[in-house]
Amino acid sequence: MWLRCGCPSRSVSTSLRVLASPLRVLGLRRCNTAAFMPESAGFGGVSGRSGLQEFSVSSSESFWAAVARHRLSWIRPFTAVQDCDLSRGRIRWFEGGKLNVSVNCLDRHVHTCPDRVALIWERDEKGTEVRYTYRELLEMTCRVGNLLRRHGVKKGDCVTIYMPACPLAVASMLACARIGATHNVVFAGFSAEALADRIRDAQSSTVITVNQGVRGGKILELKKTVDIAVQSCPTVQQVFVAMRTDNPVAMTARDIAIEEEMLKEDVVCEPATMNSEDTLFLLYTSGSTGKPKGLVHTQAGYLLYAAFTHRYVFNYHDGDVFGCMADIGWITGHSYAVYGPLANGGTTVLFESTPIYPDPGRYWDMVERLQINQFYGAPTAIRLLLRFGNEWVNKYDRSSLKTLGSVGEPINTEAWEWYYRVVGEERCPVVDTWWQTETGGICIAPKPSDPDAEIVPGMAMRPFFGIKPVLMDTEGKVISGNDTSGALCLAQPWPGMARTIHNDHQRFIETYCQPYPGYFFTGDGAYRSVEGYYQITGRLDDVINVSGHRIGTAEIEDAVVRTTNKPKGVFAFVVLKKNVDVEEADLSRQLNDIVSEKIAKHACPDFIQFVQRLPKTRSGKIMRRVLRKVVELDLDSLGDLSTLDDPAAVQEIIQGHRELL
Ligand code: PRX
Repeated sequence: MWLRCGCPSRSVSTSLRVLASPLRVLGLRRCNTAAFMPESAGFGGVSGRSGLQEFSVSSSESFWAAVARHRLSWIRPFTAVQDCDLSRGRIRWFEGGKLNVSVNCLDRHVHTCPDRVALIWERDEKGTEVRYTYRELLEMTCRVGNLLRRHGVKKGDCVTIYMPACPLAVASMLACARIGATHNVVFAGFSAEALADRIRDAQSSTVITVNQGVRGGKILELKKTVDIAVQSCPTVQQVFVAMRTDNPVAMTARDIAIEEEMLKEDVVCEPATMNSEDTLFLLYTSGSTGKPKGLVHTQAGYLLYAAFTHRYVFNYHDGDVFGCMADIGWITGHSYAVYGPLANGGTTVLFESTPIYPDPGRYWDMVERLQINQFYGAPTAIRLLLRFGNEWVNKYDRSSLKTLGSVGEPINTEAWEWYYRVVGEERCPVVDTWWQTETGGICIAPKPSDPDAEIVPGMAMRPFFGIKPVLMDTEGKVISGNDTSGALCLAQPWPGMARTIHNDHQRFIETYCQPYPGYFFTGDGAYRSVEGYYQITGRLDDVINVSGHRIGTAEIEDAVVRTTNKPKGVFAFVVLKKNVDVEEADLSRQLNDIVSEKIAKHACPDFIQFVQRLPKTRSGKIMRRVLRKVVELDLDSLGDLSTLDDPAAVQEIIQGHRELL
């Protein structure tokens, strides 16, 4: 069902109509897909990658103007390169310019190479991958775009996409871009409540989902989850439902079978003319309060930055197969499974499964089968796989691999070495890429650099073009010199950065711009080595990384304190109210269920320790950094405890922790 209807173009004779209209409307020239080499742009005689890095920071406007002219197809050229004031949270790039993101990702490649494979959908069922050419993806996108338009979705409206990684999800994202709607992709592992929160905040009128998802051989009831979510979302008027499995689901008057309706639509869809700074998408991410924030990314700057980093950090060349393992529900999926590779005319893999399904050889079997050249994964998966042993890797031919990427959390030395030596056979550079939902694309990574520049295991290393990292001390002053640590800030704006938080610009300013006026505050700490390389040391706020996914401790606390027992608790450390008589094991199970229901399975505590009290400052703030150190058994680095109300609380927790282990 899915295969036939998921790509209706296959059952419709591919006509030349698809090639005709959009390109003529826009008057695009035949574009040269050979990547624009910044070295060749003749930036005032600047030579070499490090010279270019300096130039990109000191002459940021000239640099980005040249890159934007070369890499994007404009309907109307921009008149101003940037108009930014970080201290006020004002960020604008390429104003006056008009373009359409879906034309940049599809039409211009259909014009030059219509039969090049755009997507390889690596379905959950191993060995059943499906390829979609640029022509097919454009057709699918146009049909969805026309369908959305016919159902009243207008420029500026928000469409929530609650789907696993699949071609129709990508077509839906691009269809929004085509008609000027904003998309809001919600990771299909999120609960009904988390989905409803995001739909409400985005004021979305339309949801696109599938009847059921399939992951790791298990069925996920996505349509049922949407049914529950929309009960508390008065803005939702229509839910489009695709069929991923053959199992029918209950349909209401609000629901529309998307594949059937798509077949009635034309394969040509007039692209909307968008301003550079119109919103492209919202993506919700956790902050340090309980309410997730909808970060806003705009059209030109985001697309340019995703494409440019994709090309240079991974050394992506025409004809390469790029394998980003992240789900489309995260920023990594947006920038490096969808927008970056497609803007570059690349072939990108959409991975629907898990690293261990049906066995721990899944990734490497896929590398061999799909001939993946750049593999981009998360340390949590690498750590998991290395425990299963080298034989699962060595069984498969990995000679296609050229670059290995890592993202989402620090990669420890053991995992880095295994990735480099075993997976990459010491042939492929490992690029540990640091960035965030807020940054839109990679900001610190070992590449681009001279081919023989060193890479230190576990270090993100060097800023990307146009990025100027600085470290701040506790008094808010820039720390000079090397072999030093501090709060990581970025000293000047770049095109890919988020513009605001949806409906809450004040929160954007307070979170990112006010802590260090004039700088963008990342929320992370970093170390700068003697050589000047950067290593990310972790979050400085109350956000934690669980298996590479970002969760606010406050969100989990919110969910936990809503249990009937009402304990006062935090993530792994739970304090029971006095006189509460419960079995700890029962309560642990209950807490896990609650977090799973309120947020998502990936947010569940792996480990719960019941304690008498938490280490608090005299003003009552929980000292989470101390708890983190206890969990890491890094007791020599507990840091300054002088502001603790009662230092004995820490000793009690350490004692309890040892007993548990
Ligand atoms: O703490 C950093 C960590 O992930 C955070 C961003 O999370 P999110 O917005 O979900 O985006 C994840 C994918 C880009 C950062 O603030 N992080 C991300 N990459 C790294 C990292 N920590 C260390 N090393 C990295 N390479």
